[in-house]
Amino acid sequence: MGPDDFLINLHPLRVFLVVARLLNFSRAAEELHISQSAVSTHVKTLELHVGVPLFEKRGRHVVLTDAGTMLQDYGQRIFSLIDETLQAMNSMKGGQWGKLRVAADTTAGVYVVPAFLGVYRQKFPDVAISLDVVNRSQVVESLRLRQADIAVMGQVPDPPEHWDAKPFLDNELVVIGCPQHPWATRHRIALRELAETPLLVREPGSGTRKALERLLDRVGLSLNIAMELGSNSTIKQAVSHGLGLAVISRRVIELELSAERLVVLDVEGFPIKRAWYVVHLEKSYLSPPAKQFRQLLLTVQLKEPSIPDSLH
Ligand code: PGA
Repeated sequence: MGPDDFLINLHPLRVFLVVARLLNFSRAAEELHISQSAVSTHVKTLELHVGVPLFEKRGRHVVLTDAGTMLQDYGQRIFSLIDETLQAMNSMKGGQWGKLRVAADTTAGVYVVPAFLGVYRQKFPDVAISLDVVNRSQVVESLRLRQADIAVMGQVPDPPEHWDAKPFLDNELVVIGCPQHPWATRHRIALRELAETPLLVREPGSGTRKALERLLDRVGLSLNIAMELGSNSTIKQAVSHGLGLAVISRRVIELELSAERLVVLDVEGFPIKRAWYVVHLEKSYLSPPAKQFRQLLLTVQLKEPSIPDSLH
């Protein structure tokens, strides 16, 4: 196999990327709908071509060698460039089809992005949309590996100078309780009282949790955890059943506020004012659908969530 074959036949590279992602030959074969020996042959062909092993065995697992890691990086860039090329050519024809791959953190992915995708879909019905809802660090990874074109998140990733991040929507974090909670009718509850109360909190790595920790940290207080719950829905359910208090984005609780299943408490330092950002890698090419989606986020105004009378 000479250099020309490598360029003309990208199939072995595509197969290699699937194995590199799953680190498992038989699962890669299943995903690709080919036999495991075909997967091994493609990987061997590539290894012969580059002249070094791409995988090595560690016990019962396979891992990427340094060369494998490097080829994975180049391979992802090659395929994403092919995608970009096709989309750019398409846009030259004035076409509006293509792919829009969005990644979003868990709060934005469920409570913010779908409404905007609805508007996008009406304008660009022929664009194939995918939305990956994952935790913060996976959103960043998806953008870095170019598995997503653009992302929506509650915080600009580090280091900020590597990212193009624009705020497009307010995000207020509030303290919530059930309507029967004794604090429901109190005013100006001290932040110290909240810090002394064991709270229902999201998992480590959650942006909501980090913002709460920062607020307390700034005034020398720390978080007192009653229970760690891994999703906004679980938090809402637990609070409405009287298991405790929590801090959550106001966008998440619109329905529960109007159904009077939850109330917003008047605690000093709240709401914590944040924003949702549309983010992509500073120097990355933005496909036409990603550009259109970014533009839409920055211009379309969504209806604001209702603010309970007690806080006006
Ligand atoms: P999260 O929300 O708590 O679901 O990670 C993201 C954020 O608000 O930063």
